[in-house]
Amino acid sequence: MSQRNQTLGEFIIENQASFKYTSGELSRLINSIRLAAKVVNHEVNKAGLVDILGAAGDTNVQGEDQQKLDVYANEKFIQTMTNRNIVCGIASEEEDDFITINSQDENHQNKYVVLIDPLDGSSNIDVNVSVGTIFSVFRRVTPVGTPVQLEDFLQKGTNQVAAGYIIYGTSTMLVYTTGDGVNGFTLNPAIGSYYLSHPDMKFPEDGRIYSVNEGNYIHFPQGIKDYIKYCQMEEGDRPYTSRYIGSLVSDFHRNMIKGGIYMYPKSSKASNGKLRLLYECNPMAFLAEQANGKASDGFTRIMEIEPTELHQRVPFICGSKNMVEKAEEFMRKTN
Ligand code: AHG
Ligand code: MN
Ligand code: MN
Repeated sequence: MSQRNQTLGEFIIENQASFKYTSGELSRLINSIRLAAKVVNHEVNKAGLVDILGAAGDTNVQGEDQQKLDVYANEKFIQTMTNRNIVCGIASEEEDDFITINSQDENHQNKYVVLIDPLDGSSNIDVNVSVGTIFSVFRRVTPVGTPVQLEDFLQKGTNQVAAGYIIYGTSTMLVYTTGDGVNGFTLNPAIGSYYLSHPDMKFPEDGRIYSVNEGNYIHFPQGIKDYIKYCQMEEGDRPYTSRYIGSLVSDFHRNMIKGGIYMYPKSSKASNGKLRLLYECNPMAFLAEQANGKASDGFTRIMEIEPTELHQRVPFICGSKNMVEKAEEFMRKTN
């Protein structure tokens, strides 16, 4: 298990044999993500110093204003994974369609596809608040050696072989799972290496933090309204504390360490909520389950949802097991 001062590189080599599908390919993929993350981290850290802030003028497929750092992070992750020729396809929250990668040897031998939210919490960039990157990895379902197809990306979350996030916070961390627990690595910026700082991360079964954009309260389904009132009630270990950063990665990371629940429910304004199943909810659900937590849309396990489109949105409730189950209980009561 964890060794003192173990670097991410050492950890990957040591654990490669325990990956479900042993081949250096997945290790190389994680390696390329950590490299791109270092480059993006450098840029995020100096965001306040250079003229990189502000809307880039484009609007992404979700109809949201893109900020320059979103574009930058998107390009860096795609570039790194394309140049190193380690995946056969990439889908990004910032791209309308998936990207097919032709291997240099013309044989398209790579087996993995990556889905990515290159910069999560982008509305926080301008105000020096933590942002992140989320990624999800699947084995392609179409034959190796042929161009990737939509069905390679539209897989249920239960098929994920790896998922993780990078948090660009007070420290930069890479947190990921390959289906054998969740481990967190902190970047030492002076040396440029990530060190295993949080081995075998687990959500406490119960928590005392709830994270939801309460500004949308009147638009929430009755079950969520009732659960929020339950969180605020003076009884037992309640009222809980309300904490909402507005960047999923940061809210999730805090809740995993301290115990808590994150909710982005559907509302009368957005019938499927806001978060994207493939770039945000599936990877976070995989991490949550691997860390003894839970992720659901209020009724169904997130990773069991059959995706129908790349940019699909779903209601998302995720965190400490007992808290998520309690929220589901309230949802069922009023449905
Ligand atoms: P992104 O920056 O990738 O578009 O994601 C933002 C997401 C998520 O990170 C965050 O929790 C949520 O949107 C915040 O939305 P509201 O501002 O509606 O609360
Ligand atoms: Mn996001
Ligand atoms: Mn984003």
